[in-house]
Amino acid sequence: MTVLVNGAAGGVGHFAVQLAKWKGARVIAVASGAHESFLRELGADEFIDYTRSRPEEAARDVDLVLDTVGGRDSSRFLRSLKRSGALFPVFFGEYDPDDAARLGVTISGTQVRSNGPQLATLGHLLDEQVRPRGPQPAYRVGAGTVRVGIDSTFPLSEARAAHERAARGHIQGKIVLTVA
Ligand SMILES: NC(=O)c1ccc[n+]([C@@H]2O[C@H](COP(=O)([O-])OP(=O)(O)OC[C@H]3O[C@@H](n4cnc5c(N)ncnc54)[C@H](OP(=O)(O)O)[C@@H]3O)[C@@H](O)[C@H]2O)c1
Repeated sequence: MTVLVNGAAGGVGHFAVQLAKWKGARVIAVASGAHESFLRELGADEFIDYTRSRPEEAARDVDLVLDTVGGRDSSRFLRSLKRSGALFPVFFGEYDPDDAARLGVTISGTQVRSNGPQLATLGHLLDEQVRPRGPQPAYRVGAGTVRVGIDSTFPLSEARAAHERAARGHIQGKIVLTVA
């Protein structure tokens, strides 16, 4: 299966890349160029820099698009999918159901929710290496199959600065708030 993750370097995207690899998919990561080595080390097979080329034209016959960016132009990824493929918007997008029906693809989304058994599986993937991996660069923590990219760390008392960091965009992994 080929999975394309749009917004692949972000908090949601970098986990999606790793979970798709864990499931055995070929992964195409879409992000700005500064994130290429980060995403390749997390297992991305292909990298598309959206500031240099249009990912919806560079990627074809994809089984699943996970779009963490969304927005007004989000339906452009419909044309990257093969018939019977699926688009999973993580953020809100605008989609025409007639387009999806004509192309033979499905669009479905969900909101984050707590699920004990799934969290237990994720905890296991964070704790343990389920398949061999190379050395880990300093910007990740954990030795597991799924690792956490740390964009930046702030004490809780500087939560405002953390929000300001988030507002500047181009996040790589997660922002961490530490509690004394
Ligand atoms: N459905 C749910 O339950 C759920 C759960 C969590 C989050 N969300 C939503 O999902 C979205 C993503 O969350 P997040 O925590 O992953 O955000 P994030 O950490 O800010 O990551 C967003 C990523 O998108 C990249 N990006 C920005 N513009 C892009 C573009 N045009 N094409 C490709 N990549 C682009 C950014 O870096 P570069 O531009 O440098 O590549 C960044 O790495 C948010 O809107 C959030 O509200 C939904």
